[in-house]
Amino acid sequence: MWSGAAHVVDAMEKWPSSQEPTQTAYGLAHGTDLTFFEHLAGNETKAKHFSDSMTFMQSAPELRHDFVHEYDWSRHARGTVVDVGGSKGAIALKLAENYPNMKIIVQDRAEIITHGPRYANTNIEFQAHDLFTPQPVKGADVYFLRWILHDWPAR
Ligand SMILES: C[S@@+](CC[C@H](N)C(=O)[O-])C[C@H]1O[C@@H](n2cnc3c(N)ncnc32)[C@H](O)[C@@H]1O
Repeated sequence: MWSGAAHVVDAMEKWPSSQEPTQTAYGLAHGTDLTFFEHLAGNETKAKHFSDSMTFMQSAPELRHDFVHEYDWSRHARGTVVDVGGSKGAIALKLAENYPNMKIIVQDRAEIITHGPRYANTNIEFQAHDLFTPQPVKGADVYFLRWILHDWPAR
């Protein structure tokens, strides 16, 4: 993402007020008109760096949310939670530690799920799923989207 920082002004001049995910400083830096996530999909190392950074953010005190206690998850203690765009499952792992009978399904793009961790002996399941396609898990108690919607323009 730092590579994009140097091109923010260029992008704003080229596409004033654009909300298009293909018109970005990151795209200029990398000479691509793909979206950020499509570009990551074509580069295993970059995809891994990005998903590692999401896990790392859970360890930064300024960014870490005490989300386990900010919401009453106990009412879903035996329910199903789908973590949509859940990356490598850092959030899911925290929930699973606190709620061992909760079923947690982490969904993300295939390249993230493929290289994500597999937590042994937990109630976490990983599933490749594109959030722009119909949700395959029906009737879950919670569909959790954290740090997802800001990536996309309102349509
Ligand atoms: C900013 S990260 C947030 C990760 C995680 N929710 C967290 O709070 O740490 C955005 C996530 O959305 C995922 N994502 C992007 N496009 C997606 C898509 N079309 N379908 C599913 N996940 C997607 C990314 O791979 C990434 O893991």
